[in-house]
Amino acid sequence: MSDLDQVTLKAGDKSVDLPVLKPTLGNSCIDISRLNKETGLFTYDSGFTATASCKSAVTYIDGDAGVLLYRGYPIEQLAKQSTFPEVAYLLMNGELPGRQELSKFDRNIVHHAMVPESMEKLFSGFRYNAHPMAILCASVASLSAFYHDSLDLNDPEQRNQAAVRLIAKVPTLAAAAYRYSMDLPILHPRTDLDYVSRFLHMMFGVPGESFELNPVVAKAMDLLLILHADHEQNASTSTVRLVGSTGANPYASVAAGITALWGPAHGGANEAVLTMLESIGGPKNVETAVAKAKDKNSHFRLMGFGHRVYKSFDPRATIIREMTHKVLGELGINDPLLEVALKLEEAALKDDYFVQRKLYPNVDFYSGIIYKALKIPTEMFTVMFAVARTAGWVAHWLEQQVDPEMKIGRPRQVYIGHADRDYVEMDKR
Ligand code: SDX
Repeated sequence: MSDLDQVTLKAGDKSVDLPVLKPTLGNSCIDISRLNKETGLFTYDSGFTATASCKSAVTYIDGDAGVLLYRGYPIEQLAKQSTFPEVAYLLMNGELPGRQELSKFDRNIVHHAMVPESMEKLFSGFRYNAHPMAILCASVASLSAFYHDSLDLNDPEQRNQAAVRLIAKVPTLAAAAYRYSMDLPILHPRTDLDYVSRFLHMMFGVPGESFELNPVVAKAMDLLLILHADHEQNASTSTVRLVGSTGANPYASVAAGITALWGPAHGGANEAVLTMLESIGGPKNVETAVAKAKDKNSHFRLMGFGHRVYKSFDPRATIIREMTHKVLGELGINDPLLEVALKLEEAALKDDYFVQRKLYPNVDFYSGIIYKALKIPTEMFTVMFAVARTAGWVAHWLEQQVDPEMKIGRPRQVYIGHADRDYVEMDKR
């Protein structure tokens, strides 16, 4: 954090003093809100690599030190000691819940886990092989149809209820998307199960049979949900905030976040990592893959590697890496893709190209191997990410709705098109 209180920008014969905003942790920020008025200049920062879009207290990341805090609590401690519902409450409300608060939160989620029966018609409108992310985007957006007219965003109670509805219903819709794509009957949420067991039952339950859940699977799923719950102003969370800044309802805002997450440069990377590991096939092809990733003409990237913020290890990747060995060991699974992943990581971390660019494994590099061990199909990996990130998305949406400095997001541009010119009649073109 810089100890500067202001910076002075000289622009020709003009000079403007710009205040410096001091964070609790991390980089100080130059407040440029007066820049255009006093100098007529804009700033340009493609991809917002060094631009703060808002003030937030939800999550802090130190990319150089590999630190990730949810409301100040280190991810390593939450991963070890918390549960996903408790982390969702923490992200939304800013504090860890007491016993009563958590039990009330759990009951509220159970109460809202069902989705309207008429949504079955939405699912049956998809081709049997529709990608589950396409089904999830559409079904979450369609929740607006059931609540849009009754939602008063100025009422904190209703805002909170919408957030709880999303945390409660996204797993139900995610499981339904999976069941539909497998041509299996959609199962309703069971009220006698906890959040993760309820979700896994909707995914893998057999009608008429009791549901035996392997505790290793339940714990692994809970941990993956905690690790993916939030991550500051990533592309999908920034999308939720941009849509939310227009006053759009939270269901539409989160649906927009889901579409942004789908990209292989973002949450879609976990699915892309598995496809990449399968295409590499075996440890003997790792060197070739690394060489291809360095060749600019190949357009091939090592999926699950690199990060806009982490320029050292991604703490989530470290936790997932350890967990992968544990889960596969406890489930007695020997997945050859794990050996490919380990060899790929080892080769890349020794290679100058990756070292100089500070490219390390990120959260997506190992998560797919665990999802595979939990019998989650590859096409469902990003859906898993969306189930977890719904907690972060609604936490940021709630924070944004009470931010006194919130304005509609409307970036400017560097215009590089034609200067004005006259219309040309057809026969003169
Ligand atoms: C997530 O933002 C978040 O917090 C996201 C996330 C979250 O929890 O929300 O953490 C989740 O999205 C993780 C990232 C998942 N994506 C991938 O694993 C896809 C592969 N990685 C990349 O495409 C890339 O690393 C990004 C998108 C993650 C970051 O891209 P940046 O910061 O815009 O960096 P860049 O594309 O400008 O790359 C810088 C250099 C370039 O080389 P030069 O032009 O300097 O020669 O590094 C190279 C890139 O070509 N590079 C890679 C690479 N990633 C970057 N080269 C090979 N393989 C890669 N994976």
